[in-house]
Amino acid sequence: MFPSDGDRTEVDPAFLLHDDVRQTDGTRPWVLLNMISSADGATAVDGVSGGLGGDADRRLLGTLRGLADVILVGAGTVRAENYRSPRTPDDRVGVLRATSGRPPRPRLAVVSASLSLDPTAAMFTPVDPGDPPPLIYTTAGAPTDNRRMLAGVAEVVGAGEGGHVDVRLVMADLFRRGAGVVLAEGGPSLNHQLVDAGLVDELNLTISPLLAGGTAKRILAGPALKVPAGLRLDRVLTDDGFLFCRYLTA
Ligand SMILES: NC(=O)c1ccc[n+]([C@@H]2O[C@H](COP(=O)([O-])OP(=O)(O)OC[C@H]3O[C@@H](n4cnc5c(N)ncnc54)[C@H](OP(=O)(O)O)[C@@H]3O)[C@@H](O)[C@H]2O)c1
Repeated sequence: MFPSDGDRTEVDPAFLLHDDVRQTDGTRPWVLLNMISSADGATAVDGVSGGLGGDADRRLLGTLRGLADVILVGAGTVRAENYRSPRTPDDRVGVLRATSGRPPRPRLAVVSASLSLDPTAAMFTPVDPGDPPPLIYTTAGAPTDNRRMLAGVAEVVGAGEGGHVDVRLVMADLFRRGAGVVLAEGGPSLNHQLVDAGLVDELNLTISPLLAGGTAKRILAGPALKVPAGLRLDRVLTDDGFLFCRYLTA
């Protein structure tokens, strides 16, 4: 990857990203939202994000995952993208993670009202039998049968009422469990709630050199925010026509 100012000196994002400061007020984790979109704002092609990405984007995602204590994702994305258990990062971030005594991999956390998740899906197969199972945030009204099916493969946590998980409660719970950095990987519906609740500190947005058309969601899906959330552009890298923008929220 290269700085966007035309300097052709290659930079290793693992160095840059690891050394970024991620400090909150000490009441909740730092929330880093990562998304990729086409140049015309689509977050999916044929229902999945894979058609938007490239090698550099996948490498960057690996680095961001290595920085995270928890990867938070909506059940819609888990189902669409067939999520699997997070892997051990294989770059410098992974090495630093190991030497600092942190768990080798981030834990997965999913938000779902329906608990309509297949207990045999790849996300429930641990990389190591000692890994903690995925967290699933739901509400008391979740279907009992689905809850029972997931009981052996996940830790199901109540965090809201009336079929609506409150993302503030999710963050408070993750903080109590020791999470310092949460990587939010979408999808757009969950993103909207996180931004609306003022919980996002950082947006890493990859802009893919593609025009997709269609009706795929933008990176936030939901009603207009009462007050648009301001962003400060912190860094832009480029590789093979892709732009990697790091924004901080104001
Ligand atoms: N380009 C990218 O970087 C990127 C990243 C991620 C996803 N995507 C794409 O985005 C699409 C999926 O996004 P999406 O916006 O439709 O779905 P989503 O935000 O991933 O998930 C929505 C689902 O999450 C659960 N959920 C979210 N908020 C909840 C709340 N407050 N309370 C209870 N449950 C809640 C519900 O699950 P239940 O239905 O189980 O109740 C809901 O149906 C896919 O096409 C995916 O490929 C793209």
